Amino acid sequence: MTFLFNSDAERGAIFREVLARELPDLSFEIDPANVDVETVRYMITWLVPPDLGAYRNLELLFSIGAGIDQFKAASLPAEVKIVRMVEGGIVRMMQEYVTLAVLALHRNWPVYLDQQRQQRWRAIEQPRAQQRRVGVLGLGMLGQAVLERLKPFGFPLSGWSRSPRAIDEVTTHHGADGLNRLLETTDILICLLPLTNETRGLLNAELFAKLPQGAALVQTGRGPQLDQAALLAALDSGHLSGAVLDVTAPEPLPTDHPLWRHPRVLITPHVASVTQPESAALAVAENIKRHRAGLDPVGLVDRSRGY
Ligand code: NAP
Ligand code: GLV
Repeated sequence: MTFLFNSDAERGAIFREVLARELPDLSFEIDPANVDVETVRYMITWLVPPDLGAYRNLELLFSIGAGIDQFKAASLPAEVKIVRMVEGGIVRMMQEYVTLAVLALHRNWPVYLDQQRQQRWRAIEQPRAQQRRVGVLGLGMLGQAVLERLKPFGFPLSGWSRSPRAIDEVTTHHGADGLNRLLETTDILICLLPLTNETRGLLNAELFAKLPQGAALVQTGRGPQLDQAALLAALDSGHLSGAVLDVTAPEPLPTDHPLWRHPRVLITPHVASVTQPESAALAVAENIKRHRAGLDPVGLVDRSRGY
C-alpha cells in the first residue's frame, strides 16, 4: 500500500519522516516513475496527474493546498475522495497576511508609499478602527480564523457564507440578500472564498458599486473571482481607495498589466499562505487513520458544492 507524494522533494522529505512514524505499514514514494500505480491508495498533489485513471486503487486524493479548484473535481473518478488541506500552518500564515493587509489599508499605507516615491510629507486624517468596518467573504477555515485574529483591533466585523453561521462578535450574513447587506456596511472587504461556478467573477463592477465610497479590497481567494478591469475602473474613479492582491488571473500577472503600476494597489505573488509540511503531514496521517476507521477525512470536498 503506497502513499505517493507528487510534489517538491524538500517538503516530501518531511512527509516521508512523519508518515513513517505515524503509519509504518505504508510505503512512501515521491517519484511517480518509480511507483507501481496499482499499489497507490493515497496521493497528495497540487495538480492532478494526466494519467490519474491508471491509479485504479486510489482512495484519497489530497490537495497540497487549501484550494481544490485546480483539480477540476467533476472530471475525477467518483469513488476517489478529494480532501483539501486543513492544517494549522496554513491558517496562521493567512491570519498574518490578512491582518497585515487590513492594517495597511486602514493606515493608508498605499497612499504613504506613493507619497514616499514623490518625497511628499503629508498626513491623512486617520479614522479609528471602530470606524472602519471589515467584511469577510467566506466563513470557512480561513475566513473564521482571520476574523478571530482581527477582533482585538476593534474593527466592526461581518462575514458572509453560503449557509447561516453564528460567530461571536461578528455580524453574519448568507445568501444573495445577505451579500448586499454585508457590502453596504463594509469599508475593507476580504475575499476568502473558494473558486466555484458561483464565485467566479463575483468581485465585479456591480459588487464594487454596492460598497461605500472609499472602500478597499483584500483578495486572497483565487484570481478568476476578480474582474481586474472593473477593479482598475473603480480605483481610477475613486470609488475604491485601494487593493491588496495576492492572487491574479493569470498568474504571474503579465509585466505590462496596469495593476502592477497602480499607486493604490499592493501585489504579492500568491504567497499569503503556504502549507507547512510538518503540521500538514500530521494532518494527512490523521486523515488516513480516520479513513481506515471508516470516518470521513477532515476537509472532505463536497463535489456538488465544488469546495
Ligand atoms: P472552506 O473552509 O471550504 O470555506 C469556504 C467558505 O466559503 C465557507 O464559509 C462557504 O460557505 C463559503 N462559500 C463558498 N461558496 C460560497 C458562495 N457561493 N456564497 C457564499 N459563501 C460561499 O475554505 P478555506 O479553507 O477557508 O479556504 C478558502 C479559499 O482560500 C480556498 O478555497 C482558496 O481559494 C483560498 N486560499 C488562498 C490562499 C492564498 O495563499 N492566497 C491560501 C489558502 C487558501 P459555507 O460556510 O456555507 O459552506
Ligand atoms: C493556496 O492558494 C492554497 O490553496 O493553499
